[in-house]
Amino acid sequence: MRTSYCGLVTEQQLGQTVKLCGWVQRRRDHGGLIFIDLRDYKGLVQVVCDPEHLEMFKVAKDVRNEFCVQITGLVHARPAGTENTNLTSGNIEVMCYELVILNASLTPPFQLDDENLSETTRLTHRVLDLRRPQMQYNLRLRYKVAMEVRKYLDAEGFIDIETPMLTKSTPEGARDYLVPSRINTGQFFALPQSPQLFKQLLMISGFDRYYQITKCFRDEDLRADRQPEFTQIDCETSFLGEQEIRELFENMIRHVFKEAINVSLDKPFPVIQYEEAMRLYGSDKPDLRVKMEFTELTDTMRDVNFKVFSTAAMTEGGRVAALRVLGGAELSRGDIDFYSEFVKIYGAKGLAWIKVHEVMKGRDGLTSPIVKNLHDDSIASILQRSGAKDGDIIFFLADKAKIVNDALGALRLKIGHSDFGKNHGLFEAGWCPLWVVDFPMFEYDDSESRWVACHHPFTCPKDEHIDYLDTTPGKCLAKSYDMVLNGWEIGGGSVRIFEEEVQSKVFRVLNLQEEEARAKFGFLLDALKYGAPPHGGIAFGLDRIVTMMVGADSIRDVIAFPKTQRSQDLLTQAPSPVHDRQLRELHIRLSKTEELTKF
Ligand code: AMO
Ligand code: AMP
Repeated sequence: MRTSYCGLVTEQQLGQTVKLCGWVQRRRDHGGLIFIDLRDYKGLVQVVCDPEHLEMFKVAKDVRNEFCVQITGLVHARPAGTENTNLTSGNIEVMCYELVILNASLTPPFQLDDENLSETTRLTHRVLDLRRPQMQYNLRLRYKVAMEVRKYLDAEGFIDIETPMLTKSTPEGARDYLVPSRINTGQFFALPQSPQLFKQLLMISGFDRYYQITKCFRDEDLRADRQPEFTQIDCETSFLGEQEIRELFENMIRHVFKEAINVSLDKPFPVIQYEEAMRLYGSDKPDLRVKMEFTELTDTMRDVNFKVFSTAAMTEGGRVAALRVLGGAELSRGDIDFYSEFVKIYGAKGLAWIKVHEVMKGRDGLTSPIVKNLHDDSIASILQRSGAKDGDIIFFLADKAKIVNDALGALRLKIGHSDFGKNHGLFEAGWCPLWVVDFPMFEYDDSESRWVACHHPFTCPKDEHIDYLDTTPGKCLAKSYDMVLNGWEIGGGSVRIFEEEVQSKVFRVLNLQEEEARAKFGFLLDALKYGAPPHGGIAFGLDRIVTMMVGADSIRDVIAFPKTQRSQDLLTQAPSPVHDRQLRELHIRLSKTEELTKF
């Protein structure tokens, strides 16, 4: 049906006849001549319809946007001065002498090159939205990334093994999607939140190295970087330690960035401990493009005459920290008020500040609502620790550590990403990958009054911390690691527990009684008893990686058919009510059936 792609016709075909198939991007009727911009995924070509070919011209008059057509014509040089340097085919045009409408189109609900479409419109008409060059690029890049992952892992001896979608509840900590079993009345499968347990079983079965590019399902509150079903590059290997695993997958990411978007991540990725990340950035996924770090002040604020600071500093689990902003003395009262309101989103009660005009003059060189309450020593330590210079501002937060970390961490990003930040060298564009390591094994969940796993319950404690399991679980660090890129967690994993005894101990810390542990994970506990090898792995979020590569704001832009924030598919209108008969077969009765089913 065609001899070439529209976007690939160039001067090389001058004087030749080509047959092209594609969609009408735009049709311009210039009285005498009709111009059609014909599009396929390789790009656009200008087709000229001259009334000299009367039959063809009649058809051209009927053609409208998004018609699918086939044209036959002669490749001409464009008249001097009418070339389009934005197109590969911009130096030529095709003089059409045959035009076939393969399929007409209704008037599209929107102009495909409209830049300001609402997401609802785009998702409702996803088929047309996906015709847009940006979406074509995104999904093709996604494919390229997946291919490069496969090439790299294949060369490293990993094999792709599929694991079940209908399975038992898995332990990533989100809510499960459940699937009722018709044959086993009253029983449910869970869709996997990850293939975590299966990949561990495969290691125990001796497959040595496994990977899978696979869907995971988590029923959680959605955000720009979260979907209820998303894709992991899921990997597991036997007989490697933490550092070796990190090296292997750091190289995978390096390979993929080079091959997919020609970005060289040559430098070794910095490795920072969780504790250090929280101390310096208030976040376990710091955006290192922002060139600001926190200043710790808890220890010097215990005896100041400002209750807000001294109370937080004296309270167990409290924190006082500062953020020095280069050149920030020029921020206006309005700017400061704006930031004070901003931090409240994260639970902060206020935002104290000091503008530094002349460091040498000590307190006389500062303006601030709080210096009157601070003694000379504390002022000296603030200035010295923060490294403040003339012309800077220092912001302060005092509260529970979590609030200080969240709020000051968000402020760091807000200022760093602002025009002010960019103009003052507080933001350096580029790629800033890093590893965050040594997470705590457990977090205390106040609402449930129990320990929960920070990563998942199969993560191995540091060898020297095993004893803490019995005494002080809060002190126990894990052999775990996250890969972070420009403020997004793109991957996470750990070395696993491979001894049944340690696994049972961890379950005990999590308050999982033996019976319950057996009911949920008996198959793993049993498998561990048959010579399980040391093993570990990682999973990367494919959607997130591609989103960052294309510079999109949301992972929905790199998923062909994503869900909305409300977990709905606007294209197919899923989820939707089902027929009573289907429910009866499953022995399920809805409360308020009349309201819920529309059949
Ligand atoms: P984790 O839960 O950290 O680890 O997930 C791994 C990576 O998957 C991505 N991700 C998501 N992407 C989009 N939408 C979501 N809702 C979502 N949730 C997670 C993130 C994350 O880094 N089994 C372990 C891995 C392991 O230990 O090997 C796991 O699933 O990029
Ligand atoms: P006040 O004495 O209450 O007027 O507070 C003085 C300054 O401290 C104001 O700039 C407040 O925004 C700020 N502030 C109040 N609470 C906190 C807090 N928890 N952390 C940091 N600054 C605060």
